[in-house]
Amino acid sequence: MSDEPAEDTIENIPRHVAIIMDGNGRWAKERGMPRVAGHRVGTENLRRIIRASANLGIQYLTFYAFSTENWNRPKAEVTGLMRILSEVIDREMAELNKEGARLLHIGHLDGLSKQLQEKVRNAIELTKDNQRITIVLAFNYGGRDEIIYAIKNMLADGVDPEDVDEELVSSYMFTREIPDPDLVIRTSGEQRTSNFLTWQSVYSEWYFPQVYWPDFDEEELKKAVEIYSRRERRFGGLKDS
Ligand code: IPE
Ligand code: IPE
Ligand code: MG
Repeated sequence: MSDEPAEDTIENIPRHVAIIMDGNGRWAKERGMPRVAGHRVGTENLRRIIRASANLGIQYLTFYAFSTENWNRPKAEVTGLMRILSEVIDREMAELNKEGARLLHIGHLDGLSKQLQEKVRNAIELTKDNQRITIVLAFNYGGRDEIIYAIKNMLADGVDPEDVDEELVSSYMFTREIPDPDLVIRTSGEQRTSNFLTWQSVYSEWYFPQVYWPDFDEEELKKAVEIYSRRERRFGGLKDS
C-alpha cells in the first residue's frame, strides 16, 4: 500500500479495529472555524489511518461517520456531512482501489440522496474483489436500528423461535460478513458508545484517546494497537482455561 515495510514489531495485532471519529466540531471551534470545516479536515485523516492500518496488518477497519441520531443536527451540518461523504468518495476511491482496499457499508443507504446512494454502491462494486484491507463505512448506522431491522427480517422470513441463536442473529446483522471488532477506539475523550456496534462489541477492547479525530495520526493508532496488544481478553473465562 506504500513503500513502508510491514510492521512486525507488535505482536497480537487486532484483526478488526472500529473507530468512532469524534471531536471534529470541537477541533474546528477551538480554531475559530465552522464545524463543517472540522469534518472536512477529519476526512483528510482517513487515508493515512487506512494506510497505517494496512501496514500494521489490520484486516478490517470500520469508521463511524454518521449515526442514526446525527439527523438531529442542524440541517446545514447534515447537508455538509452528506456533501463531504460525496467528496471523499470522489477524491479517494480510485487510489484506495489501486491499493487493494475493499469498501463495505453498514447502516441504511435509503435516507441519503439517490446520487449519493449510487456513489456508495459504485464504490462498493468497484472494490469488491480487493483483499488487502476491508474498510467498513458506518453511515446512517445505529446499533439499535440494526437490531430492529434484524428482528423484522427474521419475522418476515418466518424464522422458528427454536432456531434463534447468536449465530443466526449475527447472520441478520449488517455485519454478517465482518468479524466482531477486537478494538474500538473513540477519539476526543468521550467515553460512550453512542449506538455503535451494539451487538458486535460486547467483548471488544475499548480505548479512549483524548485527541480529537483530526489529530489522530499514525502514532496515535500505533499507541492504541500497542495498548490493545498488552491487554488480556478473557471472554468470561479464565486465562488458563
Ligand atoms: C464527529 O465529530 C463526527 C460526526 C458525528 C459526524 P462531532 O461533530 O461529533 O464533533 P464534536 O463531538 O461536536 O466535537
Ligand atoms: C458519535 O458521535 C457518532 C459519530 C462519530 C459518527 P456523536 O458526537 O454524534 O455522539 P454523541 O452525541 O456525543 O453521543
Ligand atoms: Mg461528537
